[in-house]
Amino acid sequence: RRFFQIIGRVSLVSVVAATGTLYYVSHKERHPGPQLPFDPSKKTLVVLGSGWGATSLLKHLDTENYNTIVISPKNFFLFTPLLPSVAVGTLAARSILQPTRFIARHKAREVAVIEAEATDVDPINKTVTFTDSSPLRPVEPTRTINYDYLVYAVGAETQTFGIPGVKENACFLKEIADAEQMQRRFLDCVETAAFPTTSEEEKRRLLHMVVVGGGPTGIEVAGELHDFLEEDLKSWYPELHPYMRLTLVEALPNVLPMFSKELIAYTVKTFKESKIDIMTGTMVKAVNPASVILKPKDAPEQQVDCGLVVWAAGNTSRSITKNLMAKLPHDQTNKRGISVDGHLRMLGAPSIFAIGDCTSTSYAPTAQVASQQGAYLARILKLVAKRNVLEDQAKALASTDGQLDDETTKRSEKLRKQIGKIRLNPFQYSHQGSLAYIGSDKAIADLPIFGREWASGGVATYLFWRSVYLSSLFSLRNRALVTGDWLRVKFFGR
Ligand code: FAD
Ligand code: NAI
Repeated sequence: RRFFQIIGRVSLVSVVAATGTLYYVSHKERHPGPQLPFDPSKKTLVVLGSGWGATSLLKHLDTENYNTIVISPKNFFLFTPLLPSVAVGTLAARSILQPTRFIARHKAREVAVIEAEATDVDPINKTVTFTDSSPLRPVEPTRTINYDYLVYAVGAETQTFGIPGVKENACFLKEIADAEQMQRRFLDCVETAAFPTTSEEEKRRLLHMVVVGGGPTGIEVAGELHDFLEEDLKSWYPELHPYMRLTLVEALPNVLPMFSKELIAYTVKTFKESKIDIMTGTMVKAVNPASVILKPKDAPEQQVDCGLVVWAAGNTSRSITKNLMAKLPHDQTNKRGISVDGHLRMLGAPSIFAIGDCTSTSYAPTAQVASQQGAYLARILKLVAKRNVLEDQAKALASTDGQLDDETTKRSEKLRKQIGKIRLNPFQYSHQGSLAYIGSDKAIADLPIFGREWASGGVATYLFWRSVYLSSLFSLRNRALVTGDWLRVKFFGR
């Protein structure tokens, strides 16, 4: 009895201590101290976007050096790697969102966050025009401001290649609203199929889900849809289960070209076991309200009926990016996106730094690249601020009237040396590996370990995948909510 009493007390004390610590940490996180106000003597740094690149920059930026203004149509950061889980209800949307104001509020100097869409960037006069395009608009919804430095991190949009019907009839998976729309459409297909008057043929159509694109987004969505069908809907709609079908269509001969051959083979095998059809070497030519038109490489076009089409066919530049590039036609000639130099400065506009998916570099358009670029830029901007201060001091000394005395010459020489010591090294990407969830509690990982690629797939990799993303989430709040959602799904389903 004594033993159990001791265990009981120790457990109680531990629970109280853990709860108290959690409360203390979260309370401190939510109530940061006062911030320095804007300083008119500092330069203005405008950041466009609140995604991976911009948020990483903001997190690492020493805001004491700049008056920082963040402009984005979304007032939050979206943790995209877990977006496919939101589309099927494994995670709640709020669990993977982090308010930009939360991050801004924790900086030493005040950061202005403006929920608006940048509509124009003038790289010659160094201005940005933005507009509030939300349903509730202010009296004057459009404004133009000047910048000294601009961080351009507006990401990309989903590529449709102008294929007929894609925009009207398919669901995308880029934004949180896309995931919510896909979830509604998916459940509508299921409930309509369950309606008493629905014919056999119509049931077969409604419950056929087609995912277009065999890149990581398409593979992860197909995996998540499969889990939802098997783990939840199979027992909730047993009579509909025989009609449920998932097809993944990919134009190239293989899915996941960025992964190693063995992991591609592993994914194909896992999909086969999960009864997900993979159609490689097949182009989607059109998306109709109730079907897709497919063109296999060596066969004629065919119409395939379906209830839901998820379009995950890659990225293309946003129109604001195309317009900005068109203003610098000699320097910006790459159709894939903005060309930058080794320090991520836009060619032709050295006051603009461009990072992430809006650029055309040798790196893949991933969160990993964008966040490393954001962190790098924060370091560079700190050095630039330091250099600007020293240069201003040197200029002030040089403009002193009359003969330079020995003391002034020495100070001027010292400043020159200090300026010379500030080295702005170019950006270097460090690849941490590729990870993707493929459904059925399995994930794949290509990891560089001691200079060699290490490929792994299965349930253990899935647990690794979960731990990596849990630790990469931006806040304690996100980690707590995602852990809670995963437990909720284990105990109560989606
Ligand atoms: P984004 O993160 O897209 O941010 C762009 C920001 O700009 C957004 O805040 C947007 O609201 C804002 N914006 C848009 N237009 C304007 C405008 N006109 N004015 C101002 N702001 C604007 N990568 C990985 O490395 N690992 C993964 O597991 C992974 N999973 C993914 C899963 C999904 C479903 C998707 C869609 C992508 C995934 N990616 C992953 C890719 C990754 O999300 C992108 O590479 C990354 O988001 C790029 O960061 P970014 O800052 O360039 O753009
Ligand atoms: P993607 O560009 O990687 O893949 C799109 C695929 O769609 C291509 O393979 C293309 O051949 C195919 N496609 C295009 N048009 C088609 C058509 N008409 N018919 C059939 N197939 C067609 O795009 P995705 O998957 O959205 O990824 C974008 C970026 O985000 C990539 O750089 C990727 O690495 C990254 N990402 C990384 C993830 C991870 O690491 N787990 C998860 C999701 C995205």
